[in-house]
Amino acid sequence: MKNLMKLKYLYKLKEAGVEYFEGFVSEDKKVDMPNELKELEKICKNCTLCDLSKTRTNVVFGEGNPKAKLMFIGEGPGEMEDKTGRPFVGRAGKLLTKIIENVLELTREDVYIANIVKCRPPNNRVPSIEEAESCKPYLLKQIEIINPEILVCLGKTAFMYLLNENLPISRVRGQIFEYKGRKVIPTYHPSFLLRNPSAKKEAYKDFLLIKSML
Ligand code: URA
Repeated sequence: MKNLMKLKYLYKLKEAGVEYFEGFVSEDKKVDMPNELKELEKICKNCTLCDLSKTRTNVVFGEGNPKAKLMFIGEGPGEMEDKTGRPFVGRAGKLLTKIIENVLELTREDVYIANIVKCRPPNNRVPSIEEAESCKPYLLKQIEIINPEILVCLGKTAFMYLLNENLPISRVRGQIFEYKGRKVIPTYHPSFLLRNPSAKKEAYKDFLLIKSML
């Protein structure tokens, strides 16, 4: 990110009452971020760091077990998520819920579900770099607070912004990566599976791997 953008970003963070976000501000400026999920959610729900805040209906912070061992990371809210303020409740969400229940033999309440961006990109477009980078600190803090052992990246956007790796999802899916001592497993996004049912076979393998690691 260019210096000017960075400055603007830091200024906006201050405006939002947030002094420090991991990985962005130098050590000497470090002050405590809320270590409570509820506090973080409050800040996030009032966020105006990027222009997605102008078109959103609701911020979709994330939901599930605040002590989950397994955390799913999607790309960003769609229409239903924007309407309800809840992640993965539309068509793709129904498929994800089915996989959680039928393959992992868990419930949505056992896991935590979040996204790279917390506000819906208009027309479900892929979030821009600026949108993803300005929103990412919320996700990183969620990960720190929830402290899951396994992070499942649903699709390329989640993988790319979590690990700063720009690789096709078909190349990385089903492999085990690492983020700060946690296992990261990328797999196909459920929306992709809805459009490409033949990829479900590979996704099934990925979820069996995830199950075996729990
Ligand atoms: N797609 C996503 O990436 N996230 C959601 O919450 C819903 C659909």
